[in-house]
Amino acid sequence: MIDKYGRNINYARISLTEKCNLRCVYCMPDDVSFNEYENTLSLNDYKFIINGLSQIGITKIRFTGGEPLLYEGLSEIIRYTYEECNIKDVAITTNGIGLYDMAYELYESGLRTVNISLDSLKEYKYKSITRNGDIKEVLKSISRCLELGMKVKINCVLISGFNENEIPDFILMTKFNNIDVRFIELMPLGEASKIYRNGYVNIQDVISQIDGLYKIESSENSTAKYYKLEDSMGRVGIITPMSCSFCSECNRIRITQNGTIKLCLHSEEEYDIKYYLNKPLIFREVLKEIILDKPERHYLNENKVSDTKRSMYQIGG
Ligand code: GTP
Ligand code: 5AD
Ligand code: SF4
Repeated sequence: MIDKYGRNINYARISLTEKCNLRCVYCMPDDVSFNEYENTLSLNDYKFIINGLSQIGITKIRFTGGEPLLYEGLSEIIRYTYEECNIKDVAITTNGIGLYDMAYELYESGLRTVNISLDSLKEYKYKSITRNGDIKEVLKSISRCLELGMKVKINCVLISGFNENEIPDFILMTKFNNIDVRFIELMPLGEASKIYRNGYVNIQDVISQIDGLYKIESSENSTAKYYKLEDSMGRVGIITPMSCSFCSECNRIRITQNGTIKLCLHSEEEYDIKYYLNKPLIFREVLKEIILDKPERHYLNENKVSDTKRSMYQIGG
């Protein structure tokens, strides 16, 4: 559906859990304690919501977390989305740990795109940024997804003094693999606020200094702008929420695991939809009315502080 500002809202990001098997330093405190929400959505609630979304023009669904692979009903919910709701663009954003073993089942259920977080290609650095993750597991998962013919995008959050020197290695990955590597600007929310001042990298500046990359047009409505190396199989993307916001083209809403709609990643306001679950006659209208409230933009660039009270792992990016 079209919102007040003429944007076609056709993409929902659905968070299935806050929990994660990693503790990336810019995302989660080491000693995080997860909220035990009274109103965590059940599998049937999620299905009801997805069905409603499909009726108001949502054509793309991305399951997020925390870590969506930890959600027991993931395969079933993907199948429901793909088969029963006829939403063919089904994706997940994951850290990739454990995906090797699950990939085939998820593919069979209808999963076609995986965005995998990978902030370093060096084993010891990956271990430090994720607080003990094993990069070998992630690389295995990437190979498996490619083997199955899935679209694979790597998300690399650039942090000054940590992984800037790995940019050429990441770009090289796109040369001989059908992979998109996307460099993301750090956003100051939750744990990331603590490292933002020294850690932020303006990716537009960085990319303009790299030889051999040329800009390409992309028909997808994506947060990323894409570039390519001559003759490379994959693409290099930049996601620049800080230096060049993409709010005017934003096509997305978010569903949280405790049954609220977030219309913008950075807004404080959330709309509780639990009361309307299993009231199919009014649910569609409620969704449409809520979406009309979607704010025009976020003010993170000016204020350097997000209005959301949630951390990234409680939103799913
Ligand atoms: P595609 O569907 O492949 O375009 O991916 P995506 O960018 O929608 O999803 P992904 O989960 O891979 O997120 C990549 C980065 O973009 C993460 O850092 C997200 O936090 C950020 N991101 C996603 N949606 C938004 C948004 O609406 N606003 C802002 N500011 N950042 C976003
Ligand atoms: N700024 C930018 N990207 C972030 N992510 C998590 N926290 C931040 C942040 N503060 C990324 C993760 C993952 C995606 C969902 O969001 O690395 O790839
Ligand atoms: Fe887990 Fe993703 Fe947060 Fe890392 S960024 S702790 S993988 S939710």
